[in-house]
Amino acid sequence: MRIGVLTGGGDCPGLNAVIRAVTRRGADLGHEIVGIRHSWRGIVDRDVVELDRSAVSGILPRGGTILGMARFDPFLEERGVERTLAGIAELRLDAVVAIGGEGTLAIAHRLHGAHGVPVVGVPKTIDNDIGATDYSFGFDTAVQVCCEAIDRLHTTAESHNRIMVVEVMGRNAGWIALHAGMAAGADVILVPEDSLPIEDACDAIRERHERGRSYSIVVVAEGYALTRRSGEQEAVSQGSDAYGYVRLGGIGSVVADEIARATGYETRVTVLGHVQRGGTPTARDRVLATRFGLLAARLAHESRFGRMAALRGDRVVDVSLDEATGSLKLVPPEWLAAARQIA
Ligand code: F6P
Repeated sequence: MRIGVLTGGGDCPGLNAVIRAVTRRGADLGHEIVGIRHSWRGIVDRDVVELDRSAVSGILPRGGTILGMARFDPFLEERGVERTLAGIAELRLDAVVAIGGEGTLAIAHRLHGAHGVPVVGVPKTIDNDIGATDYSFGFDTAVQVCCEAIDRLHTTAESHNRIMVVEVMGRNAGWIALHAGMAAGADVILVPEDSLPIEDACDAIRERHERGRSYSIVVVAEGYALTRRSGEQEAVSQGSDAYGYVRLGGIGSVVADEIARATGYETRVTVLGHVQRGGTPTARDRVLATRFGLLAARLAHESRFGRMAALRGDRVVDVSLDEATGSLKLVPPEWLAAARQIA
C-alpha cells in the first residue's frame, strides 16, 4: 500500500511523534509512506514527500509538524472534492492518515462517507475537545506551559498586590483553563461551559482579599463569553478567516477591565496565546501520539477505514469517525464543581 499522512488545522505538540510512528510501523508492515504537505491542499497540489525511517529520525521531540499545516477545506474550495479525489488517484494513495482536530476529522469523515476515500483519523488538539477520546495529544503540553506561566505570575502578583488575569486557549471547551487553573491554584477559573457571571468572580476576589490575601489569579479560556448576572453575554473575537473560522482572543483584557473597575484592585492581563502550542511535547504527549500513530498504521494496513484512534481510560482503541465528529467533548459538571470547590 501507499499510505499518505497529513496534518491539518492548527499545529500541536506531538504531531511529529505520530508521523514518526505511522512511518516506522507502516514501513515495518511493508508499506510505502508518503508525507502530504500542508494538509488536504498537498493532495490537490501533489505536494508530497516520501517518508522512511531516516526521514523521521530525530523528530520525536520536535514541536510543530515536518509536513506543515493549513486550514484547507476541499468542501469549501472550487471543485475542491473533485481535485482531491483526482490527487488521491494520481498519487496512488491507498490510504490517508489524517491527523487533525474537529475540522480536519470532519473533512475526513465526509470524504470517506460520501466519496469512499480510504481515511483513518488521529485526533490532535491542545483544546482536548474532540469527542470519543478521553484525551488528545498536545493537551498535556499546553497545560504544562500554562501551569508554569501561572506559577510565575503568582510571585509577581504577590509582590505587587495585584490581580493577574491569564488568558489561555480553549475555543469551545475550558479543559486547558480548568486543568492549568487547578494545577497552579488559580482563585477564579472562567470557562465557556459554565458562564460564571463576572459579578460572582469579583465577589470571590473581594472575599479572598477581605480574608487577608493581597493578590489573586484569574484564569480565563479564550472562548468564555463575558456573562452578567442579568444573563447578558458578550463574546470577544478578532474577526474571522475566509472560511468563517472565528479568531478568538481578547477576553482576558475585557475581564481584567471589569475586575479592576468593580473591585478597585490593580489588575494586569497576560495572554499566553500560541506559546501554548509551540515547542517540545511532554513525555506523556509523545507516548500518546506514538500509540495513536501505531494504531493508525495498523488500521490502514487492515483497510479499516472511517476509523479514528482514541484513548479510553488507559487503552488506545479505534472508534468511528462518525462518533468522533458527532459532538465536542465539553467540560462536564463534575469537573466544574471540583474546580469551584478548590478555588
Ligand atoms: O483549536 C486549537 C486552537 O489552539 C484554539 O484554542 C485557538 O482558538 C485556535 O487554535 C487558534 O488558531 P490559529 O492558529 O488559527 O490562531
